[in-house]
Amino acid sequence: MDIEAMIDALHMQGWCVWDDFLSVDEVRALYQCLPSEWSQAGVGRQDEHTLVKSIRSDKIHWLSETMGQPVQAYLEKMEAIRQAANRSLYLGLFEYEAHFAKYEEGAFYQKHRDSFRGRANRKLTTVFYLNDQDWQASDGGELVIYRDDESFLTRLTPKGGRLVVFLSEDFPHEVLPAHRKRFSIAGWFRLNGVNGASLDIAV
Ligand code: OGA
Ligand code: MN
Repeated sequence: MDIEAMIDALHMQGWCVWDDFLSVDEVRALYQCLPSEWSQAGVGRQDEHTLVKSIRSDKIHWLSETMGQPVQAYLEKMEAIRQAANRSLYLGLFEYEAHFAKYEEGAFYQKHRDSFRGRANRKLTTVFYLNDQDWQASDGGELVIYRDDESFLTRLTPKGGRLVVFLSEDFPHEVLPAHRKRFSIAGWFRLNGVNGASLDIAV
């Protein structure tokens, strides 16, 4: 898989899996950038604590360039994907936001969409895995992806080095309860956001 093949897959089917997106050494370097402090994740507007916990039990930490060279390198690769997607798919992706996610044993994220048509501005979702290569289906924590009509599409183990990319509005998905600690970077390319009367300005 390379960027061109990824763009083709997104064009044809709206999703793709890129195994060995990063080498074992690169995954290890990113793993070493994992933070020591984590926050309870939210679920959009209804951030009521007990409600959120029934929907998702992962912990998150937003990525920033100050977290080290491996994180910078990862963000640069995402920027290359953003530019290729804009060039070939005319997606008009404006910026990228991403967080590390930690799923302790038993943690899950119920079926959801990352974006709703005509509402939010998340267009393209990326999920990258920082786990061992030998993650088995029996270790749980699989990403299950559904089609727009909610029928089953595929299930993917969160093995290290694997990047999953899909159109945020079109694919409901869930994370099954993990039986091992599970680390990922979830990210979203967004359209230009309109905040009140002012439009974001690209720099
Ligand atoms: C998310 C998400 C999937 C995963 O954070 O929105 O769906 O496999 N993550 O970690
Ligand atoms: Mn999601």
